[in-house]
Amino acid sequence: MSSPTLLQTLQIDARQLAAEALAGLQQPAARVSPKFLYDALGSRLFDAITELDEYYLTRAEAQIFTTHSGDMAAAAHAACGGSSTLIDLGAGNCAKAARLFPALQPRRYLALDISVDYLAEALAQLQQRHPDIEMAGLGLDFSARLALPAGWEDPRALIFYPGSSIGNFTPPEALRLLSEARALAPAGALLIGVDLVKDKSRLDAAYDDPLGVTAAFNLNLLRHLNRLAGCDFDLHEWRHVACFEATKSRIEMHLEARRNLTLRWPGGARGFAAGERIHTENSCKWTPEGFAALLHDAGWRRLQHWCDAAGDFAVFLAS
Ligand code: AVJ
Repeated sequence: MSSPTLLQTLQIDARQLAAEALAGLQQPAARVSPKFLYDALGSRLFDAITELDEYYLTRAEAQIFTTHSGDMAAAAHAACGGSSTLIDLGAGNCAKAARLFPALQPRRYLALDISVDYLAEALAQLQQRHPDIEMAGLGLDFSARLALPAGWEDPRALIFYPGSSIGNFTPPEALRLLSEARALAPAGALLIGVDLVKDKSRLDAAYDDPLGVTAAFNLNLLRHLNRLAGCDFDLHEWRHVACFEATKSRIEMHLEARRNLTLRWPGGARGFAAGERIHTENSCKWTPEGFAALLHDAGWRRLQHWCDAAGDFAVFLAS
């Protein structure tokens, strides 16, 4: 029985991550990268979010893949000359890529995710079901830089980036990442999901659900920082805030102090006034035209896209 290779996770150094988080907390406008949302519990809370009625993104994207998988696989095959390497950025539980295996028939599958332990578990199970596909997992923080491990370079690779995770990047950051992806697959293709601009009321509901799952997902970041960086966050003192900012075309997620308080960590402290916030995530929303222009600027030339019936979400194939 083959088992997936777990490539070194050198890119993720706990001390360096802690220092990065603490630096963000000490900014005048405190902010922490959304990657800190994804410890083992955070990854599971995100999976729970995808089951919420209000969180339409995952279902809309799944509908697109189901309805158009034939077209998409044929187009992807043509675009990257029948490449055999599938590279999954932010693989999570690997389920979305696994559903493409029958149509795409990759020979090699490289799964990247910031949450390594979660990835390792998912990948081991997937390998059992697909013993003939060579699989590897890599814990990588590509918010810094997108780079592949030795032996996995393939100019004709198909890069898969579903779920609208690209929304976590501001337009200039997204341009950088998509350009780096192009450099990795100059003769390959990119299959990428992106959430579209829509009514503020629906966007707000998707990121502030009445069951409080998204609030738990956001607050869990503080629990993660307590463990990672030795902070003394008391989760009772913080409140989840999520709101669509139309001028920036993005959902912003914050954690807001309910009262004046002092946060402490080994070697430092910071005061927060009641109402003061820590910015934890941007989730940018695009128009199909805007996203096509972004891909073009990043060096992707041939573009096509599919939307769900309601026009909530788009999947782009670029080559
Ligand atoms: C995983 C980045 C696509 O922005 O919709 C869900 C994360 N944050 N609810 C998103 C998230 C709050 C999600 N992405």
